[in-house]
Amino acid sequence: MSEAVAEYSGAIDKGLEGVVACSTGISSIVDATLCYRGYTIEDLAAHSTFEEVVYLLWNDRLPNKTELQQFQGELQEFITLPKEAIQVLKALPTKNVHPMAWLRSAVSILGQYDVEAQSEDAAAKRRMALRLTARMGGLVSLFERTRKGQELIAPKPGKSLAYNFLWTLFGKEPDPDFVKTMDVALILHADHELNCSAFAARVSASSLSDVYSAITSAICALKGPLHGGANEQVMLMLLDIGSFDNCRKWVKDALEHKKKIMGFGHRVYKNGDPRAKILSQMSEKLTAKMGMAHWFQMSKHIDDTVQSEKGLLPNVDFYSATVYYSMGIPIDLFTPIFAVSRISGWMAHVFEQWQNNRIYRPRGKWTGKTGLRYP
Ligand code: COA
Repeated sequence: MSEAVAEYSGAIDKGLEGVVACSTGISSIVDATLCYRGYTIEDLAAHSTFEEVVYLLWNDRLPNKTELQQFQGELQEFITLPKEAIQVLKALPTKNVHPMAWLRSAVSILGQYDVEAQSEDAAAKRRMALRLTARMGGLVSLFERTRKGQELIAPKPGKSLAYNFLWTLFGKEPDPDFVKTMDVALILHADHELNCSAFAARVSASSLSDVYSAITSAICALKGPLHGGANEQVMLMLLDIGSFDNCRKWVKDALEHKKKIMGFGHRVYKNGDPRAKILSQMSEKLTAKMGMAHWFQMSKHIDDTVQSEKGLLPNVDFYSATVYYSMGIPIDLFTPIFAVSRISGWMAHVFEQWQNNRIYRPRGKWTGKTGLRYP
């Protein structure tokens, strides 16, 4: 074995568990407390709006009233998708295509309609962040309406991103409770320290690639069922279980067969995910309002069973599934909603990476053959 190989023969932290990959001041997780820029998620969910949280993540402080109005105005200015891009996006296949796969292409395509995409100017990069954040909800609605053969709905001026997402998705005045619920859900999903997709965005950004490339990388990472894709899987699991009485047996069988129960467990939180607690209350309230209380009751029963059988607690994806389902949102759009929110955190990470950049280039521990000769 050569010296170079021996140098990297130490222990490996599989999945980089416990490895500190960079310094960050965006969001922190300490025990079961998640903070954005120093504010707890509970405080922000109770008192702020998604737009305020985006401002906070990008500026390291909350806006005053004038700043918030101005910021909302900037988002508003960029919310409408460019006409030429819409034509191309509408032509993309949607049949048997997962919306996250579509979104991955769509964001990349939007980059080709942004004349500033390659700009190195800080103000241009901020405008790209505003455009992507303002448009992510509209993209998801465009996908949904295109696959249903429906006309596109224009966003309404002066309304929040949460409102406009529901408005452009359903094409009817959204229930104020749904708007509030969506706004809180967007706040809760906005950032989460060095999660898989934020890290993917940072890795791409670290090569000094552009904003659209970094965000496309993040969407690719978010798509997987071990990350953002879990919320969709949770609802499919609930539908598969079908009834309250089946819950316990289903969970025990799954655990016996070493199957993962979606929406449970976390790399960092070992004493519970604070977002799950808030989403559980939201799910209880909304499912009751919509005459779907059984979905919450089943979820709670599964939660109790997984805790007692395996000692695992629910994560952000577990109760968000029934929250979205009770609003009538198609199940395969649950993960895209994650992106509608997380774009704000991704952008904060990309900017933070560029502030103090060094390309990510770790080493691999060699486990292959050595010293072969070409025959
Ligand atoms: N269901 C059943 N068992 C689970 C589990 C789950 N959801 N999550 C973790 N475990 C078990 C593993 O099987 C493993 O058990 P073992 O030690 O007996 O082999 C142990 O707990 C550690 O799990 P591991 O997968 O190594 O944890 P991780 O830190 O690598 O992964 C997650 C973290 C979140 C990816 C993992 O918990 C998971 O896959 N959860 C389901 C998907 C999900 O909800 N993702 C959304 C995350 S926000």
